[in-house]
Amino acid sequence: MKQKLAQILENSTKEIELAQDLKILDEIRIKYCGKSGELTQILRGMKDIPAEERKEIGSIANSVREKIEKSLEDKLNALETAKLNADMEKEKIDITEPAIGVKRGTLHPLTRFNNKFIEICVEMGFTVIQTPEIETDYNNFEALNVPKNHPARDMQDSLYITDSILMRTHTSTAQVRAMKMFKPPFKIVCPGRVYRNDDDSSHSPIFNQFEALVIDENVSLKDFMAMIKQMLIKLYGENVKMRVRPAYFPFTEPSIEIDATCQICQGKGCSLCKGTGFSEFFGGGIVNPKILEMAGIDSKKYSGFAFGPGIDRSVMVTNKIPNIKYLFRNDLRFLKQMR
Ligand code: DAH
Repeated sequence: MKQKLAQILENSTKEIELAQDLKILDEIRIKYCGKSGELTQILRGMKDIPAEERKEIGSIANSVREKIEKSLEDKLNALETAKLNADMEKEKIDITEPAIGVKRGTLHPLTRFNNKFIEICVEMGFTVIQTPEIETDYNNFEALNVPKNHPARDMQDSLYITDSILMRTHTSTAQVRAMKMFKPPFKIVCPGRVYRNDDDSSHSPIFNQFEALVIDENVSLKDFMAMIKQMLIKLYGENVKMRVRPAYFPFTEPSIEIDATCQICQGKGCSLCKGTGFSEFFGGGIVNPKILEMAGIDSKKYSGFAFGPGIDRSVMVTNKIPNIKYLFRNDLRFLKQMR
């Protein structure tokens, strides 16, 4: 019996030592210490051993059991530690490796300009409105004093959906809608996309404008120019110069064209401003009383001014963009340069 116990201890110790994983180790435990394990059976058979030997054999058997259990536990710990180390090695992160970097989006240059202009207008008390891009011929032309067959229509050849529905050629349609929406006095500004049958390096069939309309009592050209000067200062800084030229628009009388210091050369003269030091900013004027009357506003009591800058040209000039199409292609190589 003593020999048998010694054999069990020797075999189990060897097997435990050689065990390579937790599953095998558990099998060894079952083989010796499980319900019908070799050692368990001996311990159970103790009662059949003659009394004089029982004490000695019993204590040997118990010590064998303790040794096996200790070896099993040590091995279990060793295998678990080894597994943990192997896992950590596999999942190792090199914290010194340079990061891939987060790709941050930015606002489109047109959006940035738009936001800035809207901010200035809101500070000056304007209400921002948006009106449809698909318009009636009436709102786009007739209500702005451009009847059918008027030569002014030639400059704004549109994209027609039906004979009387078109893609708006300018945001001046917002004037017509605003005069019906609001009771004077009011100040509105309408940013938006407009469409024309035009296509070359400085003209795109889609471009962006801003429409502003102020209606109140005793509004004059002086008020208009004073406000524009303030807007230009906020947009381009204290030193901006403004130049006014006479113009013609069917919906304003008188009509003017306003130029501002060229933002490329700061007024010194460059190829973009053709040496003048000024670049065209927008057209506008005193609202033609005929427009007010058509919209049901008493032109004897109220007067107003309106203007409509195209913003794409300004964005092109200030960012040195050679072709207007870059603004609409969504080419990431271009947009990244515009940050
Ligand atoms: N709508 C005109 C255009 O697209 C620009 C314009 C001129 C707007 C005079 C106005 C204005 O409000 O009063 O060419």
